[in-house]
Amino acid sequence: MEMIKLNDGVEIPAIGFGVYMIPNDGSAYKAVREALDAGYRHIDTAAAYFNEEEVGKAVRDSGIPREEIFVTSKLWLSHYGYERGKVGIESSLKKLGLDYIDLYLIHQPYGDVPGAWKAMEEAKAEGRIRSIGVSNMTPKIWNSFVPQFATKPSVNQIEFNPFTQQKEIRRLMAEYDVKAEAWYPMGHGNAELLNNPVIARLAEKYGKNAGQICIRFEVQEGVIALPKSANPERIRTNADVFDFELTEEEMEELYALDTGKSSHDPDAEGVGEMLLNAFVVED
Ligand SMILES: NC(=O)c1ccc[n+]([C@@H]2O[C@H](COP(=O)([O-])OP(=O)(O)OC[C@H]3O[C@@H](n4cnc5c(N)ncnc54)[C@H](OP(=O)(O)O)[C@@H]3O)[C@@H](O)[C@H]2O)c1
Repeated sequence: MEMIKLNDGVEIPAIGFGVYMIPNDGSAYKAVREALDAGYRHIDTAAAYFNEEEVGKAVRDSGIPREEIFVTSKLWLSHYGYERGKVGIESSLKKLGLDYIDLYLIHQPYGDVPGAWKAMEEAKAEGRIRSIGVSNMTPKIWNSFVPQFATKPSVNQIEFNPFTQQKEIRRLMAEYDVKAEAWYPMGHGNAELLNNPVIARLAEKYGKNAGQICIRFEVQEGVIALPKSANPERIRTNADVFDFELTEEEMEELYALDTGKSSHDPDAEGVGEMLLNAFVVED
């Protein structure tokens, strides 16, 4: 697996296994064990995915040395502010059953983000978290928070795929040497994306599926991709994208698919409150 160096020196595998919507009923455990068997060494969970327990257990039971697996989790809105942030970090560590988390993110950028960030900076200094980052930051949100941070984020995890290329925020992130991580790397299974004629032609040419072309595009763009699947065959194939390379012309064709739009607008009125009510995370 290719590694990417973050601005704090921490190295992250270029592809991570996403576990959003994989329930903590044995499914998350099974999927993460399958992903680790298939060669993934990077798992992307969150307090608000309600499966940190099974993700941590799968990592611990895998027999793979802890330092060879990169685990990301995310602080939820109900744990923002400095004191609540400390509680949220301890809660993630406890649910995961791990001594440290490799990357911890501000999941949604609303409310007392600076207080939560301070708690995350402290946990990083104590070695409980190796790297800290943000998610869902648009240029407007970025400018309202990041310039005040004492520690710059290592990543911004945003919606990204050939239809949603996030040019504006990525330009701003490049000024801070902050890497993008792609959520919805295959458009959350969007049929229009996966059946797009350009993507279908490249899939045919390279003997890959449409999802793999999207992931390869992201890898070549230097964007960390987080494909999710609960299907053992797709778990395996989604990480099998290192035996071919898209040409410059093909990358240009994929750049041209950008719609400039995203399915989620973090700047929309009331989003923070809606999300806080939709996902109730216990301590
Ligand atoms: N920070 C955030 O706010 C945020 C938001 C959303 C997601 N995320 C992260 O990003 C990860 C990925 O997002 P996502 O799971 O919603 O979207 P995704 O990875 O783009 O798409 C997953 C969907 O595509 C299907 N699929 C998987 N491999 C495929 C392939 N090769 N060809 C066609 N379809 C395929 C999956 O079905 P099967 O399971 O049946 O294979 C599933 O329905 C999440 O798991 C999470 O870790 C973060």
